[in-house]
Amino acid sequence: MDYVAKKIDGVEIIVRDPKASDLDMIVDYWYNMSDVALRRIGVERARIPGRAARRQAFFDMVGNDLCRDSACLFIIDADGVPVGYYLVNKIEHGDSCQQHIHLCDRGYRHRGLLSHLAFDLMALVFAHGDVQTIISEPSARNPAPNALLQRCGFLPRRRYYKAAQGICAAMEVNRYEVTRADICGVRDEGRRVAALGYQSGT
Ligand SMILES: CC(C)(COP(=O)(O)OP(=O)(O)OC[C@H]1O[C@@H](n2cnc3c(N)ncnc32)[C@H](O)[C@@H]1OP(=O)(O)O)[C@@H](O)C(=O)NCCC(=O)NCCS
Repeated sequence: MDYVAKKIDGVEIIVRDPKASDLDMIVDYWYNMSDVALRRIGVERARIPGRAARRQAFFDMVGNDLCRDSACLFIIDADGVPVGYYLVNKIEHGDSCQQHIHLCDRGYRHRGLLSHLAFDLMALVFAHGDVQTIISEPSARNPAPNALLQRCGFLPRRRYYKAAQGICAAMEVNRYEVTRADICGVRDEGRRVAALGYQSGT
């Protein structure tokens, strides 16, 4: 299923369900990442499992449902080619989930794509899932997501030192949250309008 289809900066962007054929793009991204890039996002190379296990972890999410499962994967296509993914995990049904955005193809970064897409991704989760809050905890040393989340309606909650977990090293993170009420305009019309403003720039 396609969840989002829009033109941003002349690029046809589609956000859709994953297929097995998308997984090599994701696995290659993780295995080709430089030490500097891994450090920036707070991931420790030694903690990344082998290729087969990494692929399997993503494969296990193919066919998942936001209202039923604990994690869901979405693929971001640019002009018909998969260039990134949106991962929603730690889903506590009725409550909250965490989100992770990766534009794996570096050629598409820092061009405003996610500034124009982030609202659609949040809306996707609230429309198709049952959570009330989306949480994002990027490394405090990773400027792009910290800038992105603030400009797209997420509220900074706290900065704290997070213990190593999964593929992530221990690091200082900033915790941001956005709620269903924020996005539906029930609680904070100003932030909703600010976030919506990025849609109109397409
Ligand atoms: C984070 C990411 C999804 C942002 O998407 P994007 O399309 O590149 O972001 P945009 O171009 O819309 O920029 C959003 C904001 O980030 C800033 N930004 C983007 N890339 C940046 C960079 N390399 N360094 C500093 N700031 C950057 C932009 O200036 C903008 O901030 P502003 O509104 O204050 O001007 C993308 O850069 C990416 O996938 N990076 C690698 C993986 C990653 O870090 N994921 C987040 C893990 S939590």
